[in-house]
Amino acid sequence: MHAGHITAEAITAEVIPELCKSCGKCAEVCPYNAISVDVKAKQPAKITTAACSGCGTCAAECPFGAITTHHFTDPQITQQIDALLEDRPGDKILTFACNWCSYAGADYAGVSRLQYPPNARLIRTMCSGRVADSFIWHAFRKGAPVILVSGCHIGDCHYIDANHWTEKRIGKVRAKMEKRGIRPERLQLEWISAAEGVRFAEVMTRMEALRQSVTPAEIAATVAALEKKTAAAG
Ligand code: FES
Repeated sequence: MHAGHITAEAITAEVIPELCKSCGKCAEVCPYNAISVDVKAKQPAKITTAACSGCGTCAAECPFGAITTHHFTDPQITQQIDALLEDRPGDKILTFACNWCSYAGADYAGVSRLQYPPNARLIRTMCSGRVADSFIWHAFRKGAPVILVSGCHIGDCHYIDANHWTEKRIGKVRAKMEKRGIRPERLQLEWISAAEGVRFAEVMTRMEALRQSVTPAEIAATVAALEKKTAAAG
C-alpha cells in the first residue's frame, strides 16, 4: 500500500541469539505474532521487526534475558531504579507507569494541579507488559518499601492485550513474595487511564498510606532475604 517504504516503530524488540534457549515463551506472549521460534530445531527466536510494536512483553517474560527492547533495555530501567532509590529509598513510592495511560494520567493530575504525595517516583515504560519481575525484585533489594505497577485498563492496552501478561506476572510475583515472607500488599497493580488524573492522585494517596505502614525493620528484612537468595543463586 505504501510503495517502496513502510513506517516502522523505533522501539522494537531484538533477540540476543547466544542467550536464547528456544523455549518459545516470547512467541506465546507476543500480542502481534511478531515472533517465531522453531522449538524442535532449537533455533533462536526470530522477530519480524515490521510487525513488532515494542510493548516489551517478550523481554519481560523471557526467562533467559535473551530479548531486549530498544530504548527500554534492562540496564536502562535498572539504572533508573537505582537512581530513584539512591537516597532514602524508604521514603519513596516507586511507580512503573505505562506511556499511554497511567503516565498520561499522572501528567493530567499534574496539569490539573491535584494534590498527591510528592514522594512518588515514576519510571515510564511503553506498556505495563514491559515491567519484568526482575525490576520488582531489584527495587525491593534496593530498599523500596512499596512498588506500584500501573497501566491501561484491561481492554484498553495500546498493545492489544499485553497487560493481561502484566496481571499474571504480578500475581506470580506476589505469590513468591508471600513464600519469601514479604507482605504481598507492598506490590500493587492499578489500572489508570489518561483521563483519570483524580484516580491517579487517589491511588498515590493510598500508596503513601501503605508506604507509611512499612517499617524500616520490614524493609531491612526484605533486603536481607533477597540478598541471601541472590547469594545462594551464585
Ligand atoms: Fe498501557 Fe499496555 S499500553 S498497559
